[in-house]
Amino acid sequence: MGALDARTAIVTGGSTLIGHGVVQALADAGAHVVVADLDAAGAAPVTGGSVTFRRTDVTDDDQVAALVRETAAQHGGIDVVVNLASVYLDDGPATSRADWLTALDVNVVSMVAVVQAALPWLRASRHASVINFGSVSSKVAQPGRWTYPASKAAVVQLTRSMALDLAADGIRVNSVSPGWTWSKIMDQLSGGDRAKTDAVAAPFHLTGRVADPAEIGAVAAFLASDAASVVTGADWAVDGGYSALGPEQALPAIPQLMA
Ligand SMILES: NC(=O)c1ccc[n+]([C@@H]2O[C@H](COP(=O)([O-])OP(=O)(O)OC[C@H]3O[C@@H](n4cnc5c(N)ncnc54)[C@H](O)[C@@H]3O)[C@@H](O)[C@H]2O)c1
Repeated sequence: MGALDARTAIVTGGSTLIGHGVVQALADAGAHVVVADLDAAGAAPVTGGSVTFRRTDVTDDDQVAALVRETAAQHGGIDVVVNLASVYLDDGPATSRADWLTALDVNVVSMVAVVQAALPWLRASRHASVINFGSVSSKVAQPGRWTYPASKAAVVQLTRSMALDLAADGIRVNSVSPGWTWSKIMDQLSGGDRAKTDAVAAPFHLTGRVADPAEIGAVAAFLASDAASVVTGADWAVDGGYSALGPEQALPAIPQLMA
């Protein structure tokens, strides 16, 4: 028996590496998973068996409605929504109004839209769980980044609001905030060099490395399961200890005074 046997999950943004980790963890626990993303080719490594792909732009209400309608028709309901789709559209202080609105639309407003559309099915489920993707970026200033951290801070707060107002319907809502994770952007920026990525991440992650997508997926699968039945309204740091560190990072700063 898997922890998510006979349950159905929608995972937005499931077509790249972190998404794959989440989709695989949910499927391994027995769930039917529908990947809702713009990128069909990116979903190919995880589709087949209990995982299907449906091309969906989460900023388009008609497409979101069709996603929910067809998922419920195919599987008889919806128990889990993972809001993972995100953009890194950010030019810091120079970000245009149009880019701000796009970033907030994808990263925040679309989470609401998917949950609103799925609400009748989540209310009907006896195991309803929503998991919104935040980030360590929600709590700190990062150079050249204005839209992304603000959007992720909004996600963490939105999660509390959702959890409060949906609790009476038996729907749990939590956010997952990863630290640096081996992902498409890390792969591209490092030229595929994971050891280099780990070395850059080491001073500000207690684990001394980036997370693996499977490690993010494991926490999402736990939050989706009945093992987390009393967990709601919480932001889960899945960040290798990033958020336990202050600005002095993992290296002792005091000795630098004497160097
Ligand atoms: N990469 C990291 O180290 C890291 C750290 C902290 C948090 N996160 C969070 O984890 C999640 C995944 O991050 P990632 O780096 O894998 O992102 P990514 O950019 O590689 O993947 C995001 C996915 O969202 C999809 N997407 C974008 N706009 C969409 C739309 N309008 N409709 C449907 N799908 C759309 C993309 O096609 C893509 O598959 C994000 O929420 C991100 O904020 C990532």
